[in-house]
Amino acid sequence: MTQSETALLPADASGIAEAARLLAAGGLVSFPTETVYGLGADARNSHAVARIFDAKGRPRFNPLIVHVPDLNMARRYADITGVLADLAQSFWPGPLTLVAPLVDGHGLSPLVTAGLDTLALRVPAHPAAQDVLRVFDGPVAAPSANPSGRISPTTAMHVMEGLGGRIDAVVDAGPCPVGLESTIVGGNPLALLRPGGLAQEDIERAIGPLAQAGEAITAPGQLASHYAPGATVRLNANAAHPGEVLLGFGPMASDLNLSLSGDLIEAAANLFDHLHALDALGRPIAVAPIPECGLGRAINDRLRRAAAPRP
Ligand code: TXA
Ligand code: MG
Repeated sequence: MTQSETALLPADASGIAEAARLLAAGGLVSFPTETVYGLGADARNSHAVARIFDAKGRPRFNPLIVHVPDLNMARRYADITGVLADLAQSFWPGPLTLVAPLVDGHGLSPLVTAGLDTLALRVPAHPAAQDVLRVFDGPVAAPSANPSGRISPTTAMHVMEGLGGRIDAVVDAGPCPVGLESTIVGGNPLALLRPGGLAQEDIERAIGPLAQAGEAITAPGQLASHYAPGATVRLNANAAHPGEVLLGFGPMASDLNLSLSGDLIEAAANLFDHLHALDALGRPIAVAPIPECGLGRAINDRLRRAAAPRP
């Protein structure tokens, strides 16, 4: 892809229709929200979600925020009741993300939740975001549309400069009014997990004081052995030892293969599902070497956590 292969779409009916078509086809589409430009993909499509991490060059599979047009659709994916429902009624659509328990049969890619049993959900207020989500009519995973480690984009030109040639399209609706990521609340007791575009004071006026965020909630991916399978995991294995099952990569004999052709995007898309499937066999898991480049960094980060000694 060259930079010119990223389409710059107008935020009118034709541009929104094309954005929705690209999302449905597994594409990556950046769109404006009132906070920052997001980099969207169909949250049910593991391959599309893996492409988000690849395009951003993210060294880790952090859980992503899922964007939906309204509270009704949010409830297909997470249990929004009690004080979370009060917050949704007061501040959605708007710059607030709620972390809530996943519901059974949610159908989202495990890459979106990074294996957690909670989900971060947001209903953006920006008219272009609302239009994209309504026409697409499904859940859109979207981190900020910047290369990992760079400043979040608040114009379509920022997105083009950072990700042009790596994504399918940008919907251009001018600068974002808030310019700061959404505020995230979640946990039990409910805590502020990330300060952002909605002031803590406004939240506390609506529902009373928030708790102090605990370490484990603020940094779900940071614990070395987080999301570890039940089985022990041995890395950089070229063959299974007796009793082990082998998770392969590239052309080789194995019990399951992340990508026979050695495609790192395909491997990322398969990672969580294959680990779950092998873990269900109840035997130690050996994993073939994964190259430490591109999405391989995030895959290896996840595998090292899976293989770390348990607390
Ligand atoms: O304003 C925003 O929120 C922008 C726009 C595009 O909507 N999106 C955004 O997404 O900032 P992202 O992926 O960069 O932020 C995700 C944050 C991470 O800090 C992650 O740890 C947290 O949400 N998060 C996601 N799922 C979580 C969960 N289940 N529990 C706790 N934190 C979660
Ligand atoms: Mg970001």
